[in-house]
Amino acid sequence: MDIREAYLNFFASKGHEIIPSAPLVPNDATLLFTNAGMVPFKSIFTGEVPRPTPPIRTSCQTCIRAGGKHNDLDNVGYTARHHTFFEMLGNFSFGEYFKKDAIAYAWEFVTQVLKLPKDRLYVTVHESDDEAFALWEQHIAKERIYRFGDHDNFWQMGDTGPCGPCSEIFYDQGGEHFNTPEDYMGGDGDRFLEIWNLVFMQYERSSDGKLTPLPKPSIDTGMGLERVTAIMEGKFSNYDSSLFMPLINEVA
Ligand code: ALA
Repeated sequence: MDIREAYLNFFASKGHEIIPSAPLVPNDATLLFTNAGMVPFKSIFTGEVPRPTPPIRTSCQTCIRAGGKHNDLDNVGYTARHHTFFEMLGNFSFGEYFKKDAIAYAWEFVTQVLKLPKDRLYVTVHESDDEAFALWEQHIAKERIYRFGDHDNFWQMGDTGPCGPCSEIFYDQGGEHFNTPEDYMGGDGDRFLEIWNLVFMQYERSSDGKLTPLPKPSIDTGMGLERVTAIMEGKFSNYDSSLFMPLINEVA
């Protein structure tokens, strides 16, 4: 399966416009590199630029996380899942749909298109987000829904910019393959692999830390292409997947 194509076509079938990946160096003085799929759409979320028609988009964005707020550099080489440069699949709603549809679309894609087994899936919500918890309960047993605080379940682009509580989907790679003390839901191990982050964009943070509500509650999601590819190919390290092995073999 071509995962990029499957993702973009799935969201196109739900009315999203497919947008090509933007440059890695953004036109934004608050960021050195594009660190997430939402970066090219920041000014639409904040209302600075009018909403496009249709107000829903999807993309596969190249990202760099080697500094700033989302810095994965120190994890690279220590885990099987972190990269400095990677591709993020995303769907975005600028005030069109919110939590209910974002959760339903994600569940449909993961279970019906990727066909990941439901008994391997877990989700998290922000500890204060009873609404997201109740929406997830329509798809998955409540024992599989975890609540975490701001550290895990509140996403923001940088020190300033659009932000909001988020909900993440995890895939259990199995205790037989991963059994360090860090291999529990919410731990730093590779067993429970976060594959998709659904951000319920609701605020803009200014440099004094103040949160101002966005013009309309919006959706920003990010699925890690390298992680999903490894899972779909039955590999326990992203680096063993078909995204990396041809490069590694060529260099070797
Ligand atoms: N912007 C969110 C993230 O990067 C989806 O995790």
